[in-house]
Amino acid sequence: MTIEPMTAGDLRLALERVRTSVHERLEGADTAKLEALRLDLLGRSGELTLLLRRLGAVDAAERPAIGQLANEVRREVEAAIAERAQELQSGDLERRLARERIDMTAPGVLVRVGHLHPTMTVERELREILHAFGFEVFEGPEIEDDWWNFEALNIPPDHPARDLWDTLYVAEPGSWEAGEPRPAEDGTILRTHTSPVQIRAMRTLAPPIRVIMPGRCFRYEAVDASHNFEFFQVEGLVVDRDTSLADLKGMLEEFARALYGEGTKTRFRPGYYPFTEPSVAFDIGCLVCGGSGCAACKRSGWMTILGAGMVHPAVLRNGGLDPDEYQGYAWGMGLDRITLLRYGIADLRLLMGADLRFVSQFSEGR
Ligand code: DAH
Repeated sequence: MTIEPMTAGDLRLALERVRTSVHERLEGADTAKLEALRLDLLGRSGELTLLLRRLGAVDAAERPAIGQLANEVRREVEAAIAERAQELQSGDLERRLARERIDMTAPGVLVRVGHLHPTMTVERELREILHAFGFEVFEGPEIEDDWWNFEALNIPPDHPARDLWDTLYVAEPGSWEAGEPRPAEDGTILRTHTSPVQIRAMRTLAPPIRVIMPGRCFRYEAVDASHNFEFFQVEGLVVDRDTSLADLKGMLEEFARALYGEGTKTRFRPGYYPFTEPSVAFDIGCLVCGGSGCAACKRSGWMTILGAGMVHPAVLRNGGLDPDEYQGYAWGMGLDRITLLRYGIADLRLLMGADLRFVSQFSEGR
């Protein structure tokens, strides 16, 4: 590129023009405009750059003075550009701060907090009480097979006691599709009670064992106000040396008082379960009428809250334990009726009805 010769006077004038106009030119420039102006002035073929190149053609005598002026102008132009850039940046910041300001006085947005299902609230309460009695929680599967649910608990196939547990079978693969559903050959069923978890606990833990086993159970029931095909139990198991029926009675009486209050009346009656010997039924004074007799207790004044007994030697053996060395007691209780009584709910079906308007009335469990 050829450089047009220029007199020292013209060059001085041109530099002064840049100097006096730069602030005006930069005023109000946004970021894009500022960059364009920067290139116009200082770029490779920018106005000031071209003027500076002409310095070499200036008379040697004039050169130092004009050179000094040129440097000053360049510094001023650079400073002016930097200043505008700074302005733009802080302007951005101010705008951002204005945009992001939080109004601490604005009303909040309501966060919907869920709560436990009432049956689970009751389960938590039982866990807490029994935790204080030294019990840990041990859980087992809801889908079991015949051996764990029945045989291991001393209920052989075709034993009449099986009638106590109307069972939901899982269909043999393909048999349903073929229009002839039949129970799975591998014995897969939905557990009818939490008792099979006793066997799992015995096989997993070493005595002394002190566990509760809460969970969902299933039975082939005709559904009505007090029966459902799906319900909840809490099983208890203690295995140790020298465990006796007296321990069982003391434990359950204390438990009933912790759950229903100090003055709770209790009684034991003989019962029958294949997996305990002896077996008992445990009653408390009717929670509705206080013992005088009403519809809820069928005029007896008592309500049965659980079945219990000393663990049968065959069951200990199936749990991998030697009955000559260890004894134990166990109990099983339903959660659903406790929940109905606690909240004054008349119909069991409401609990599993999946109607949030219903369950959200019972929001004490968080
Ligand atoms: N599994 C029994 C049932 O569902 C309840 C039961 C009774 C459990 C006695 C026990 C027990 O552990 O000892 O009807």
